[in-house]
Amino acid sequence: MKILVTGGLGFIGSHVVVELLNKSYDVIVVDNLSNSTIDVLEGIRTICNKKPEFEKLDLRDKLAVSDFFVRNQDINGVIHFAASKAVGESVENPLLYYENNINTLVYLLQELQKLPKSNLIFSSSCTVYGQADVLPITESAPVKPAESPYGNTKQVGEEIIADVCKVDYSLNAIALRYFNPIGSHHSGLIGELPLGTPQNLVPYITQTAIGQREQLSIFGDDYPTIDGTAVRDYIHVMDLANAHVVALERLIKHKMVVNFETFNIGTGTGSSVLEVVKTFEKATGLELNYKIVQRRDGDVTAAYADTSRANNIMGWKSKFTLQEALESAWKWQQNAIAAKES
Ligand code: NAD
Ligand code: WQD
Repeated sequence: MKILVTGGLGFIGSHVVVELLNKSYDVIVVDNLSNSTIDVLEGIRTICNKKPEFEKLDLRDKLAVSDFFVRNQDINGVIHFAASKAVGESVENPLLYYENNINTLVYLLQELQKLPKSNLIFSSSCTVYGQADVLPITESAPVKPAESPYGNTKQVGEEIIADVCKVDYSLNAIALRYFNPIGSHHSGLIGELPLGTPQNLVPYITQTAIGQREQLSIFGDDYPTIDGTAVRDYIHVMDLANAHVVALERLIKHKMVVNFETFNIGTGTGSSVLEVVKTFEKATGLELNYKIVQRRDGDVTAAYADTSRANNIMGWKSKFTLQEALESAWKWQQNAIAAKES
């Protein structure tokens, strides 16, 4: 079985590639390296003792995408991670996001339609729910108006796939709505590589702990939650990686009930920002320098998944604790600094 992984050198994609190689899939990665580096391939090789095929390709280049599929007719499944993901940047430059997240999906689907049969996994996000009215959030919770062009690309991306699946029964697709992915492979050889100042909580915590940032700002302590800080469902990236392998098997073994399905991928447990900080301190024995500041625009109060559909229908469940995820994030952070210094 040959699987195309777009954006396979990025944070989530690289961990999925490791899981696929470990399950003996043949993997071909395409990535334009806009938010990753070629060194990730070496990390994957060290972990798995083999490398995926790699092609540097920009999926915004429609002709290059078409040419890729002419040369690779034997692809059994596609996992599509390639996208831009910085919420604030998407507000500043919406067209960059619509081009990179929507055009690339359309070009990919146009090629998949030419195949007699195709399987697609799409990276969606809990951002489609906005502030849900009911917690935990089930897949049938309404999709709320997007807070950002980035969020909109995930909503529209799902709609595009649903529309194509309605008329093309040769395409089977699964959208996985990730909650908050954190952590890294236990080797610490691959992980999240935020460019510039991290926007996400866990890389900000680890960079503060290692001395790269002076202080973590906690955005708001006046939310109606257990301790006033906002609540999220933080999922270990290795659990998330495993969810892709389970979803892929569902596609390949024709276990689908309809040809486009959607699953929440989270742990089912919400943790507040302060709980994450305390768990990090417990995991590392360090004291984190933090202060409470104003709420961040666009943040929701609380979001955590009802995972029953993924548990009962897909047969997947998260295994790792928040503490284990934070330990792995810390190991990756320490390795990243050691690699920089050597
Ligand atoms: P990432 O930026 O680490 O990885 C994306 C990869 O895609 C990068 O290696 C980048 O170089 C590549 N890429 C981007 N545009 C490309 C293009 N035009 N052609 C080829 N390659 C291209 O991001 P990630 O955190 O691994 O996220 C993967 C997917 O999951 C994205 O679609 C993202 O929107 C989605 N997602 C991420 C999160 C999260 O918190 N990380 C949460 C929900 C959903
Ligand atoms: C988590 C919590 C912050 C940084 C984002 C995207 C979403 C999805 C996942 C892709 C919040 C607080 C953060 C900091 C803080 N990505 N925080 N200080 O906002 O839930 O979701 O990533 O689809 O679309 O919006 O994740 O990690 O940014 O924040 O207090 O320096 O940590 O306010 O409550 P978020 P996050």
